[in-house]
Amino acid sequence: MSIFINEQEKTFHLTNDKISYIFRVMENKQLEHIYYGSKIAFSDSVSRLVERSFRPVSVVEFDNDLITCLDSIKQEFPSSGGGDFREAAIDVTFENGSHILELEYNSYKTAKGKTKLPGMPATFANQDECETLTIFMKDELSGLEVELNYTIFNTLPVITRLVRLHNNGDENITIERLLSASVDIPDQKYDVIHLSGLWGRERHFYRSPAEPGVKAVYSTRGASSHHHNPFIALAHPEATENHGNVYSMNLVYSGNFLAQVDVDNYYVNRLMIGIHPNRFQWKLKPHGEFYSPEAVLVFSDKGLNGMSHAYHDLYNNHLINPKWAHKARPVVMNNWEGTYLDFTEDKIISIAETASELGVELFVLDDGWFGKRDLDNSSLGDWYVNKEKLPNGIDGLAKKINDLGMEFGLWFEPEMSNSDSHIMKEHPEWIIGTPGRFRKPARFQYVLDYGNPEVVEHIFEMMDDILSNANISYVKWDMNRNISEAYSAYLDSESQGELMHRYILGVYTLYDKLLERHPNLLIESCASGGGRFDPGMLYYAPQIWTSDDSDAIERLKIQYGTSMVYPVSSIGAHVSAVPNHQVGRITPLDTRANVAFFGVFGYELDPNKLTEEEMQEIKEQIKYYKRNRELLLFGEFTRLASPFEENETMWMVKTKDKEQAIVAWFQVLSIPNDGYRRVRVPGLDPSALYKIEENGLQYTGSELENIGIVLTAPIRGELGFDDTAIMNKRDFDSKIFTLRKVK
Ligand code: GLA
Repeated sequence: MSIFINEQEKTFHLTNDKISYIFRVMENKQLEHIYYGSKIAFSDSVSRLVERSFRPVSVVEFDNDLITCLDSIKQEFPSSGGGDFREAAIDVTFENGSHILELEYNSYKTAKGKTKLPGMPATFANQDECETLTIFMKDELSGLEVELNYTIFNTLPVITRLVRLHNNGDENITIERLLSASVDIPDQKYDVIHLSGLWGRERHFYRSPAEPGVKAVYSTRGASSHHHNPFIALAHPEATENHGNVYSMNLVYSGNFLAQVDVDNYYVNRLMIGIHPNRFQWKLKPHGEFYSPEAVLVFSDKGLNGMSHAYHDLYNNHLINPKWAHKARPVVMNNWEGTYLDFTEDKIISIAETASELGVELFVLDDGWFGKRDLDNSSLGDWYVNKEKLPNGIDGLAKKINDLGMEFGLWFEPEMSNSDSHIMKEHPEWIIGTPGRFRKPARFQYVLDYGNPEVVEHIFEMMDDILSNANISYVKWDMNRNISEAYSAYLDSESQGELMHRYILGVYTLYDKLLERHPNLLIESCASGGGRFDPGMLYYAPQIWTSDDSDAIERLKIQYGTSMVYPVSSIGAHVSAVPNHQVGRITPLDTRANVAFFGVFGYELDPNKLTEEEMQEIKEQIKYYKRNRELLLFGEFTRLASPFEENETMWMVKTKDKEQAIVAWFQVLSIPNDGYRRVRVPGLDPSALYKIEENGLQYTGSELENIGIVLTAPIRGELGFDDTAIMNKRDFDSKIFTLRKVK
């Protein structure tokens, strides 16, 4: 059992062998947060743990004999305007214009397992894997009921939270703000960590001291965005990759979000995450209900790697479609960087022939196969084949690809349209835009109103037609612009504040419908690279195109940052041509593959332009990946040295039984006459002997951990006497060490 309840004191303790989370009901029936962190031996009563102090200039009330200033106590689900002046988790407007909510505890319920979240992605687990506590609160005057749901996973340091609102009164209630989770964490000057960036450099790692005031990351773009990820963490200032306390939150949602810490002047850190309140307004009619997205809370006392291991485990086992979660993913050849929009069937077949010779397993035809799409200013929304380019149709092409021994995948951008398209001419009202105002294009395209179920149905039918009439096993679902001038012709004037949320619900509906009709489809999500890399997408699409930046050195930072939360099995990573199309850099072919191995591996180039030598090297790369992909995709991924701090980056994967590991070392610039270089490999069996496949050397687990694999030793014999016998003298060098336990 993982939920303990003291009925008398109304205390709730969620716990497993890693974490404890405790809150209680106060005399005024509000909830007070007591503790969150490492597991504690808890003695059933919290009276000794309640903290109070008189706060001058505060609004007070009484909790037994204690003076309570709501403004400074730790709250479980804060509302605004009633004496707590910090950022709130919930805010509503009643018909008389008032915002004041008095949420009082009513009852609770516990259940094994967790229920499905209607219409939205969420983690799942069976009855033996988690337990759920629901707290029922009510605002007596209005009849608004608030359910706080907490699920604790039995073997992971994970609690998921979500909120359900139900209007049990007779008036309309407008939800102005509803965050999924809020936790008040006291006593510390923490560091705040987030993953932020831009197109081409998504999810870079940022860490800075959390100071009084609000530090927020967010999206108001209609997608979770390149700019910030729906993730935030508070780390003890001394916490490192492997040690120290880290509190974090990740939102299972792909639309507008807010993730922030509000540090008050007593250094209570209010960590919160949820739908962004900006332009969000949801009318809750009598009897209406509303669910927040799910927030995932991970606490680690083993630093950032400990946090990441928990997210990776959770997402691989309880979020990603079980059909794919532990399945080796096919090696892909995608034609985008090889041809862009300029291709014919012959050209595609000749690329595919070479790809198949190399050992590629799945060929993906990217943008340009539909309508009259020769440039990127036309045809989005017209999902039928361009016979001039592909005279045998998608069906004919798919057959030819299948005959070459490969599966076939196809690109769609289902949420968009160009003005030069049938869909936009026939249904101008299906495009998001404010009447009478200019709709700003982005990449010549406009966003379809997925808040309108008719639009979702129409696109579903077009896609279903293509998918049902050709042997397509993979879809790359792209989304290349954000929403501006948000207005829906489908919604009435009072419901316009619902558009951004309804839009993303429509996207989820289309995913659901497609997967219901085509359950074996493997979907790769994409949004101009990594503009929608979030757990919501991961629920439907087991892999996500991480970034349009395929340069190996840029990818070190992107993949390192992404790995904070997301497992290797979700990180799409392809080897592309040099000079790299995004940054012009020339990196060695082995380094390009060594980076991409730590992701869902593939190629994105014209293989007919490769030299014979490169062809041979690629054949070996693909063989290596096929031999090791279970370990690479599903092994425990640990970061060893950060590209944000060093010239060197290191990371590794290992099997849980410590039988096998793959360690990767990368350097940006080559340094002359440098110090000794080693790759220390933690966490293997200290007394066991491991053999490195690449050079035959053997090390014990404790040597690997404490001394490390030496990179700079001159080695006699096969490798000669070069003083950089293992490292090469070159910029952008890298090495992979494949370790297997020999005894
Ligand atoms: C986006 C994607 C690319 C490619 C192009 C096609 O930029 O991120 O991978 O699919 O669109 O237009």
